[in-house]
Order: sequence, then structure tokens, then C-alpha cells
Amino acid sequence: MCGIVGYIGSKDTTKFLLDGLKELEYRGYDSAGIALLNKDRIDVFKALGKLNNLQDKIDHSTLDEYDIGIGHTRWATHGKPTELNAHPHLGEYSYVVHNGIIENYKELKDELIEAGHNFVSQTDTEVIVHLFENYQNKLNDTTKAFKETISRLQGAFSILLISKANPEKIFFFKHGSPLIIARGNEEEEVLFSSSDSPLIGLAKEVVYLEDGIGGVASKNSIDFFSDDYSWSTLPTSKQFAQKNGFRFFMEKETYEQSDVVSDCMLGRINDEEIIFDEIDKSLLDGIKEIKICACGTSYHAGLTASYLFERLSKIKCNVEIASEFRYKEPLLTDDTLFIVISQSGETADTLEALKMAKNNGLKSLVICNVDNSSMTRMSDYTILTRAGIEKGVASTKAFSTQTVVLWMLSLYFAKIKDSISNELMKSELHALREVPKSLLISNSIHEKTKRLSKRYLHGHGFFFIGRDVFFPLALEGALKLKEISYLHAEGYPSGEMKHGPIALADPELFTIALMPENLLYDKIKSNVEELSARDSTICSISPLEFELSDDFIKTQKTDHYMLEFFEMLVVLQLFSMEISIRLGNDVDMPRNLAKSVTVE
Ligand code: F6R
Repeated sequence: MCGIVGYIGSKDTTKFLLDGLKELEYRGYDSAGIALLNKDRIDVFKALGKLNNLQDKIDHSTLDEYDIGIGHTRWATHGKPTELNAHPHLGEYSYVVHNGIIENYKELKDELIEAGHNFVSQTDTEVIVHLFENYQNKLNDTTKAFKETISRLQGAFSILLISKANPEKIFFFKHGSPLIIARGNEEEEVLFSSSDSPLIGLAKEVVYLEDGIGGVASKNSIDFFSDDYSWSTLPTSKQFAQKNGFRFFMEKETYEQSDVVSDCMLGRINDEEIIFDEIDKSLLDGIKEIKICACGTSYHAGLTASYLFERLSKIKCNVEIASEFRYKEPLLTDDTLFIVISQSGETADTLEALKMAKNNGLKSLVICNVDNSSMTRMSDYTILTRAGIEKGVASTKAFSTQTVVLWMLSLYFAKIKDSISNELMKSELHALREVPKSLLISNSIHEKTKRLSKRYLHGHGFFFIGRDVFFPLALEGALKLKEISYLHAEGYPSGEMKHGPIALADPELFTIALMPENLLYDKIKSNVEELSARDSTICSISPLEFELSDDFIKTQKTDHYMLEFFEMLVVLQLFSMEISIRLGNDVDMPRNLAKSVTVE
């Protein structure tokens, strides 16, 4: 969720770092910073907000010549976006930049405070540099100290570290989050980055570090701690690199879901319960019901959550479209917890709904992807979804991370309310941990959606149908298709078709049927049979073959309906995208839409 760069060489270090961070800014931009090393001196510049602020600070400073530097652009996970929390983080004589989350930072911090270290930030990252100095003070060997440090960290950590104790080197390690090391085009030049694009044109050969690989680099040597690495050629097109080789940002973001959902769960699940450091159990004091407000895709995540809050937490829950809620003169009582869901945190209708709730004295919680956004500033509590920046206008990874957060929240509440047996909690936690696997995309499933898409470019409309949580998923599938293919699609509860819409059924009506094995399979099956009897064209998505379908997309067998939910989500996203591509549309910037809707 953050961007990292590093440089060793005789060119303009500051320029490489700033240009590189500019390329990575899309990963996160609540603050940025660089640390520059010149033998016995380290100069550091940090600024809040976009990179221009950092650039301004540097433009107004007198700079030395530096041979080594590290830089970072941040997307806050632990600690608010402030200058103190911005990377690089300082010990007494070393600096670190880090991408990921240190899960055991609290224990390490306590231990280091006991040993006399002073901490200035609220971040998990700061423990790394203090841990390093703690070992360095004891061992007087920077490589050993770095290795010891790494061995104590748990979680995800891609790191660059510089130290006056060994001023010609950068120590690096990759675990969880991406990190690349490159030999520069110039002699005696080593570059680092968390993604390809800052390196394009400046290096030809790179190592895409695997998890658990680290080392020490100086201008004329790169020493890896193990032999598990190989050099490869860097692509030459920046656009290509930014999209990681995918055709569209939407495609890249659909594929990214497995990783970002892992990030989203990091440090929030243990063997017995869900942990949210950002809220506390008193959140439910005096609360009898939950009201959720959101727009678009975020509304669909909210609708999904309403099933889970009632089923697992046993708390009454209703969900409203924010633009409707605002003007209906709603009755608001302070025994209601008001939850808003928003990728951007800026959507005007949702923001206004939140204001209304606040003015009526309700407790509020926002599930959001952008820290320091208007909603996170206004709400009493925030849970961040950690999806990283979503560039495609059609939301993908925002939805999957929101849904995972809401599922976790329903279990968090269930524990407080004592509404769940230990056994059920265990099996829910087990299923949650499997979500990243359900979001992995196999070649065969992508190929299947690609092949099928050619049959669905016409017709007089699509009905996406499902029951229970698969109804909001059907709404989301229909919204994806509408947005990027401009074809008419509706999401419908499958049991409701016979109350009117079935009149539309004919071979030119395409029914996309979500048929999970683990939830109400027989019920939905009979609804689909009714449509098939009226000659609608049926494409079923299910682990179980269904003889009446015209087309069939086979999903994997699992033992939890939410795992089926996430796999089907991916299928729907790919299906819409492939139809849109065949129709020649702009997948990432569909007509008439904007990424953040800040007007009513
Ligand atoms: C659909 C989509 C929109 C947003 C909606 C709310 O793909 O992206 O429907 O979900 O505009 O936006 P946020 O979540 O930023 O409040």
C-alpha cells in the first residue's frame, strides 16, 4: 500500500528518489519522505499530503551531494497521517522505510522501551530501526544486526535501511510486500523500488525479490543473504509497468484482490477472535441496531453485511442508499450505530448522511479506503480497508476489502454480544483465512469468461439473480456490467422474479444465475428452472453442474458460502470486463462516470 525507492550511485540521488516516488504516488499519498546519506550526515525531508509538498520543501533547502538515499510514499495503516508518522523512521543514527505491517510491533516496542529506546511516532515501522540499533549497539556488526532484526519481525515487511554505522550501504529485505533491486545503467549504481515503473529507462536488469530474500548493497557489490534469486530483464514501457502487464487497471485490480484482502486481514485475526485496534468493545454500549448508509458498490457491500450482522452478531441491521436516506426525514435514535461505507471517503451523499447522524448524536463508524478523507475525519471511528489506490472507475478491490472488513466486524460484534458459539467462530475464522485463495484467478476461469463473453454482446437485457448475500452480489454483478459495457442489466433476488420480471423472459433475456452449493441451492435452482421453462438464456455460475443452463461457469467446491461469494465476485468482474473489451469500450474510464462523486 506504500511505495519505496532507494538509490546508491553518483547521479542526482534526490532526483531519482523524487521521480521514483512520483511514479509510485498512486500507491498512497498521505505523506512522503526521503533520507539522504553523505558519509557522516543524514538529511531527512518529510511532508504531509501529496508529493508536491515534499518537492516544495526540498526546493527551499540547500542540498549536499549524496551517494545514498531511501524514500517512501505512505498509505497509513498504523497511526494517523502526520509528519511524525511519515517514513523514513529514525533511531539514533539509522533510518528505515517499510512497506507492510509488523504484527508483533507492540511486544517489540515494549521490549525496546524497557531497553531505553525512545519512540516518537505511532507507527509499527519505528520498531524496526530501534531493533536494528539495539542489536548494532550489542554486536557492532551491521549485517549481523540487520539479520537479527529481520529474524524478530512478524507480519509483512519490505524494508530498506541505512545507517551511519555503515554509511556506504543499503540493507534490504522483502517479505510480503513487493521489492525490486536493479543494477543501474551507470557504472556503480544500484536502485531499489517497490514496483517496476521508477526503474524503467534507468536499469535493464532487475531481481524481483522473493519473500524471505534480503541482503546488503553498496555501489560495487550486492550481497544476497541466500542464493534464491535470479536476474531478469526489465520491461521498457512505463504504462505497461504501472499496470503490471495487465491490459487495464480494472484487470490489474481484479487480480490484486487476493493480496489486498490479505493486507486487509493482517493483524486482525487470531485463533479465537477478530482484533480491530481502531475500535473498542464500548462501541456497542447502548446500541440496539445498526444502520448502514452508502452508495453504489459500497451500498452493495453494506447490503451483504446486513445479512451477516443479523445472522452472526444477532443485531438488527438495515441498509439505505445515502441519497434516499438524506431526504426521507429518517427517525434517528441514539441506540443506533451508524455505519457508512465508502472507498473514497468523499462521496457527497454518504458524507451528508454521516453529518445527519452526527448531528442527531448517533455513534458513527466509517469503513473507508482513504485515511484522512472527509469521512474518516468526521466519523467517531474508522476502519481502513487497506485496498491501496483503486484507479479503475469500476470498483473491484474496494468491494472485496469492504466485504471482508464487514464480515470481520460481524464476528467482532458477535463476540461482544456473545451471540456465537466457539465452534462457529472457529469455522468462520477458518473460512475468512481462506478468502485470499478464493480470490486467486486461474487461467482456466479467466479464459472461460473471455470465451463466453462473445455470446453476450446483444440481447435486450441481463438479469443477475441470487438469494441471501448472493442477491447483493447479483446487484454488484449487474452494476459492473452496466458501468463498463453500457448494456442494460438488473440485479434481482431470484425468488422475486416470478412477481413480475419473469414476463420479460425469452431467449434474448440473459439470466446470470448465482448458484452457490452452500446456501439455499435448491431454492435458487427452482427459480432458475422457472426462467428456463420460459426460454430465457441461462448462464449459471456454480460448483454444481446444472443441466438446464445454456452456459456454465464452474466454480470450486468449498465448505462456506462466503468463499463461493468471493470466487463468484471475481467471475462477475472478469465477465463484465471481457464483454466491455469486446465492445471496444474504455474499461478504466467508462463514459459519463467519475471515480469520486463529490456532488449530490
Ligand atoms: C461502481 C462504483 C460506484 C461507487 C460509488 C460510491 O463501480 O465505483 O458505484 O461505489 O460512487 O463511491 P465510494 O465508495 O467512494 O463512496
